[in-house]
Formats: sequence, C-alpha cells, structure tokens
Amino acid sequence: MTETLPDYYPTVAEDVIAFCGDKGGRVWVDLGAGPGGLGLALLEKVSDGAMVLMDPNADSLGRALDTARQRGVGSRTVAVIGSAESIPLPDESVDVVVSRGSFYFWGDRAQGLREVYRILRLGGRAMIGGGLGSGYPQWARQEFIRRRRESVAAKGAEAVCEFAEARSPETFRRLATEAGLPSFEVMGEGGLTADDPKTGIGIWLRFTKETANDV
Ligand SMILES: C[S@@+](CC[C@H](N)C(=O)[O-])C[C@H]1O[C@@H](n2cnc3c(N)ncnc32)[C@H](O)[C@@H]1O
Repeated sequence: MTETLPDYYPTVAEDVIAFCGDKGGRVWVDLGAGPGGLGLALLEKVSDGAMVLMDPNADSLGRALDTARQRGVGSRTVAVIGSAESIPLPDESVDVVVSRGSFYFWGDRAQGLREVYRILRLGGRAMIGGGLGSGYPQWARQEFIRRRRESVAAKGAEAVCEFAEARSPETFRRLATEAGLPSFEVMGEGGLTADDPKTGIGIWLRFTKETANDV
C-alpha cells in the first residue's frame, strides 16, 4: 500500500507568513485555490482577517466552503469564481495574494501577475508558485519528489521538459519581467529535485507592491 504523506499546506502557510507577516485584519486572496488547502491553513494560523478563495472551478470552491465551515473558519471565508487573467476585484483592495500549484495553468501568466499587482494595496505582498514548505520533513519531500518524477516520466520525455520548464527559476524571472513588476525575487530551484536544500521551498515568485497604480 502507498504510504500517505503528511499534509504540506501547514508548512507552506508557515513560509507565506514568514514573508507576508501575520498581522490581523487583513484581506487575503488564495488565487487558484481549488479546494482551499492553502487559504484555509493560513486562516487557521492568523488570528483574524478574511480569505477570498478564488478559482474558475465552482465545484472546487463549493468543497472549499464546506471544509471552511467544518474547520471553524467559515465566517472568515468567501469564495469568488474568477481567473488570474481577469481578477474580479477592485484595484488596491487586498493585502496579500497567495497562489500555490496554479500559476502553471494560467493561460496568460504575465497578465495574471499584472492583475495580482493591480489588486494589491500599497505595501501588499504576493507569493506565487508551488512547493511543500521549507519545514516539510525531508523523508516525505524525497518520497513526494520520487513519486512526482515517476508520474511525469510516465507521460514521456516531452512532458518532463515541459513540466521542468514551467517551474524553472528562469521562466519565473522571465514572466515577472514581462509583467513589468518593478521588483521581485524568485526562490527555489524548481519542481523535480529533492537534492537541492531549497526544494522544500519549491519555486516561488515573491514581491511587494511599492508603487500605487496611478503613479
Ligand atoms: C493543481 S490545482 C491547485 C489547487 C490549490 N491551490 C492547491 O494547492 O491545492 C490548480 C488550480 O488552479 C486553477 N486554475 C486553472 N486555471 C486558472 C486561472 N487561469 N486562474 C486561476 N486559477 C486557475 C484550477 O481550477 C485548480 O483549482
């Protein structure tokens, strides 16, 4: 029987909080939230504030809202159907945008990044990419990557190249530059290695909004 690996959302949430802080009263967005794993883990770790779970898939959002209620954070959670390329939120309306495991599926990733920048308030932060969290146990990280390598390799050599390219630091840097982000950093090495000490962090684009939209 295949061993179940530990949940990675709490360790990813810890990395997000290390970058974005845990100040209360903020509006968070989990973009491409799916069933809400990261957004709900964050709500459980920050004392107050609200989480907007956003995804084009209404079924996933319905499941996320059920889970939020079961975990006692339902009153701090809202679900919005939407896509990164055209986020249905006003300019400068949110404090933090997180997105895990979704960036690779956006049809126009640079446009999605421009939209994230647009909705952030001045001083707001974003962390976009994928990974297991730097505190995820080493043994589980190695096993996760072993299974991932196996499943991607089963799709053929071209799929391996595409998978690696979509998650490479060079691709992240290129897209952030194309989006016109004034400053940013890319953390981690990619999605297919367990040997690099940064693998637990995964691959993340992090930035802070330092200039208002109308400047
Ligand atoms: C692999 S799932 C990740 C879900 C969740 N963030 C997680 O870490 O478990 C990818 C998600 O991205 C969503 N997605 C696909 N295209 C998107 C887009 N253009 N904008 C926002 N989300 C998108 C999918 O509907 C799906 O829920």
